Amino acid sequence: MLQHFREHWVRPALFFGNNPLSLAGGAITSAAGVTMIGYWLVELFGRPNDNPYLGIIFFLILPALFVLGLVLIPIGLFARRKKLQLAGQIPAEFPKIDLNDRMFRHGIDIVLVATIVNLLVVSMASYRGAAYMDSPQFCGSSCHVMHPEYTAYKVSAHSHVACVECHIGAGAESYFKAKVNGTKQLVEVAFNRYPKPIPSPVMNLRPAREICEGCHTPAKFVGEKLLVKSSFADDEKNTETQSVVVLHLGGIDSLSHLTGIHGVHLGHVEYITTDPTRTTIPWAERTYPDGSKTAFASSNLKGAVPQGERRVMDCIDCHNRAAHTMQTAEDALNRAMAEGAISPELPWVHKKGLELLKANYATEAEAREKIPAGLTQFYRSEHPDVLAAHPDLVKTAGEGLVTVFTTNSFPEMKVTWGTHPNHIGHMNYPGCFRCHDGDHVAKEGKTLTQDCSVCHNLLAVDEAKPKVLSDLGIQ
Ligand code: HEC
Ligand code: HEC
Ligand code: HEC
Ligand code: HEC
Ligand code: HEC
Repeated sequence: MLQHFREHWVRPALFFGNNPLSLAGGAITSAAGVTMIGYWLVELFGRPNDNPYLGIIFFLILPALFVLGLVLIPIGLFARRKKLQLAGQIPAEFPKIDLNDRMFRHGIDIVLVATIVNLLVVSMASYRGAAYMDSPQFCGSSCHVMHPEYTAYKVSAHSHVACVECHIGAGAESYFKAKVNGTKQLVEVAFNRYPKPIPSPVMNLRPAREICEGCHTPAKFVGEKLLVKSSFADDEKNTETQSVVVLHLGGIDSLSHLTGIHGVHLGHVEYITTDPTRTTIPWAERTYPDGSKTAFASSNLKGAVPQGERRVMDCIDCHNRAAHTMQTAEDALNRAMAEGAISPELPWVHKKGLELLKANYATEAEAREKIPAGLTQFYRSEHPDVLAAHPDLVKTAGEGLVTVFTTNSFPEMKVTWGTHPNHIGHMNYPGCFRCHDGDHVAKEGKTLTQDCSVCHNLLAVDEAKPKVLSDLGIQ
């Protein structure tokens, strides 16, 4: 058998293989193969490199070249055969390979071994390529379109949850769907035809409860959550005040009762929204544990059921920015000041900082340059004494403002303050008040509650040094 293989396959292959195309193919394959194996070894023993472009080269381009080389070899072979056939030059007998000749025997063995190695390299490369395409690094940073989502993601509580865990389901089907979708998006990016900003909500997101409950079990939601928020005023001293709120988050209690904010809506609430961003919700219906239903509708509907997208409420109807919170300029600045990234000791920094954050910048680079320059200029011309006394605070405040800007506002992608509303709460965006606006009424006359204390106890609202915090030992 081996004899037959050598006579009828290897000999013609070597004969026809002696052409520029096949030889080039062989060269490309070997070069790509050796480079990849080298990189894997370095990776195995060295530090992982998180430059996305290296990833593209080593996990996508080199494997493609490797396969291209492999494909060129038979193409060259067949082309030469065809050419010789047309010219009537195919030898009746292929040049004799003397199997007693050790050189030839070894040559054939090398071809066999090379084929096996090639198969191994191809399977390893495709496995590595697939794994790489699933990494947040690839999804988030190899494509500038994802810049806003990736940046917000990196500073979120989910920065260690891979994009694919939320965006792509398990199983071959969703993997395939995602790749088809991804290829379409790649073409859009290549031709600069993608929408800016990328629209939200994501219509083909996996069912949220399937995604989120993989890590957060509903049974663990039970309880109250204490929320403390600081804000700073626009005066010289950046006067700090705090709000202290106890949210009735609830969940499923030990008697399997659905309680509080989580429990009620995760029981079963359906709604109809009449706009693509799911902000206008004129109709919502709760199904109670006993199966009865009550629908609450905007009073201007006069009993009619509106046309629109109909959804059963799930996690992302409130947590729509779970991994990509783009804060408002006010919230982001307050937080940076509470954390000390921008010192509240620096007179007027809240007022001027907010003004600089909200100015128009065409590009991120422009913001990086103009924000710190604007701050320094402000102190130089209006408060030179402050600049003289605290040059270091002015400098760090400038850097802090740049960070606030670049993690929440992305001019190139047209994602600016307020582009992506957050549905949690009601202070900056309609959020809970999309339904709990006091105007959603049931037939029986019951109104969807807007009573502050049903959702939370307000222990302090914008108070300077609230007593409750010192009682709790927090301050
Ligand atoms: C914890 C789950 C989770 C993770 C992890 C996650 N996302 Fe998202 N993503 C969401 C949700 C939820 C939405 C909003 C869906 C909606 O409103 O319908 C979203 C929306 C988006 C959007 C649409 C535009 C927008 O801003 O709403 C893009 C693009 C996106 N994500 C990209 C990514 C990338 C890239 C990564 C990884 C770097 C990632 N996501 C990781 C849950 C996640
Ligand atoms: C792979 C696991 C995983 C998945 C999937 C996941 N989370 Fe999380 N989530 C976490 C981890 C880990 C934390 C961080 C806990 C911490 O930092 O204390 C977290 C924190 C949170 C928090 C509190 C922090 C915050 O940002 O306010 C919320 C809310 C949350 N997740 C909601 C969601 C929602 C909604 C989804 C589905 C879209 C989801 N999670 C999917 C693991 C996950
Ligand atoms: C009706 C709106 C609503 C729905 C629906 C909802 N949540 Fe929440 N969730 C909230 C609010 C409000 C908070 C408190 C917000 C805060 O911490 O600032 C919260 C907080 C959380 C937290 C943080 C708890 C902590 O101890 O800090 C997690 C985790 C969470 N939700 C997960 C989920 C998951 C998973 C789902 C879906 C199964 C879900 N939520 C559905 C409104 C909702
Ligand atoms: C899609 C509409 C919708 C949205 C958005 C919504 N809710 Fe509700 N909520 C309802 C419905 C419907 C009920 C059931 C009212 C009833 O049974 O009387 C309800 C009930 C509640 C209850 C229990 C009220 C009671 O009387 O016991 C609380 C608390 C609550 N919601 C808080 C919130 C919070 C907090 C948010 C925002 C994070 C929110 N809701 C967002 C529709 C909504
Ligand atoms: C349907 C539920 C609901 C009702 C009704 C409601 N709130 Fe809230 N409120 C929330 C939620 C949820 C948050 C937490 C937002 C967050 O996590 O950032 C909140 C936060 C707050 C905060 C502190 C947060 C901040 O950003 O400063 C204040 C103050 C507040 N609410 C005042 C009120 C007042 C006053 C009323 C009555 C007129 C009211 N709320 C009615 C759900 C509600």
